[in-house]
Amino acid sequence: MAGKRTHRITLIPGDGIGPEVSGAVVKILEAAGAATGVGFEWHQFAAGADAFAQTGEYIPKALYESIEQNKVALKGPVTTPVGGGFASINVTLRQKFELYANFRPVKSLPGLKTKYPDIDLIIVRENTEDLYAGLEHVIVPGVVQSLKIITDKGSTRIAQFAFDYAKKHGRKKIHSIHKANIMKLSDGLFLNCCRKVAAEFPSVEYKEHIVDNTCMQLVLNPYQYDILLTENLYGDILSDLCSAFVGGLGLVPGANLGAECAIFEAVHGSAPDIAGKDMANPTALLQSAVLMLHHLNEAETAERVQGAIERVYREGKVLTRDVGGSSGTKAFADAVLAAMESAGAAK
Ligand code: NAI
Repeated sequence: MAGKRTHRITLIPGDGIGPEVSGAVVKILEAAGAATGVGFEWHQFAAGADAFAQTGEYIPKALYESIEQNKVALKGPVTTPVGGGFASINVTLRQKFELYANFRPVKSLPGLKTKYPDIDLIIVRENTEDLYAGLEHVIVPGVVQSLKIITDKGSTRIAQFAFDYAKKHGRKKIHSIHKANIMKLSDGLFLNCCRKVAAEFPSVEYKEHIVDNTCMQLVLNPYQYDILLTENLYGDILSDLCSAFVGGLGLVPGANLGAECAIFEAVHGSAPDIAGKDMANPTALLQSAVLMLHHLNEAETAERVQGAIERVYREGKVLTRDVGGSSGTKAFADAVLAAMESAGAAK
């Protein structure tokens, strides 16, 4: 075991199921780190409505400063009011820290039976532009304009990210997902940027699909895709669709990556329908934490956690309800802890 290294991580437990899933994840990371010589210093902050109640700010200044200093955050989901109220905390953080790449691997877990076995897809979603710029206004009563922002810079850097990733990790194919038949200028610009970057990577096959057709193609035959490279809104919707291939939102992790900072969070939201009931599946946030460990160059700890998750799914005895089991969040977390321990003992 190497000498002990400590990572300072900004922790945003979030609300709804956030505290339950992040509590489970912190416990598992602490145990994994204790066995591999890796320590964590958690700098914890509320965000959203909870933060407003405590500090009068939806994103406290101290939270911004913590992310600036630590460069890495682990984040649970935060509820965003529908149709009014404050702006999305998630979108605000992504824009503030220019976390332009939203990386979402959608991979089947061993032993978990779904309609589509052996899925291995990646969604690379542009994370700072598009209709999520939040530029909306009433022109006259009854008429609202919402601006879709697509830039050469934003499109080129996300395409570059996707192709660099493909080359580095031996992925074969990238589909650019667009609606440039209708949004000829904005999605047209996105496509042109993707084509220019694609031309620099002849070893990666490049294709383009229109987003509505993509939805059908995905349901008919998801295996035709490898990496889906897309804009913010399409990427958001396709992520939930693709999560269903591998068992649902309780499973799919994500990383928001920028040049300076990174925030790791699951694809799912705060799931108010099951919050506080010990029903949430912590796997999605746990696999996001595995991505975080790789980002921190802690491959041994990452593999220890991922190996334990896979063992629990392979055995199939302690699973949460969303994936057909009858166990709670805490029992699942305990099963992952036990799987880590027995893997350690077997070494
Ligand atoms: P949601 O992802 O919270 O829930 C959709 C469905 O999936 C629900 O039936 C829920 O019970 C289930 N689900 C989600 N995560 C699960 C888990 N870990 N284990 C088991 N079941 C799970 O999406 P919804 O209902 O559209 O959004 C709720 C709130 O979350 C909204 O305020 C939304 O703005 C916010 N949200 C926050 C995100 C974030 O913080 N990154 C991302 C997406 C939504």
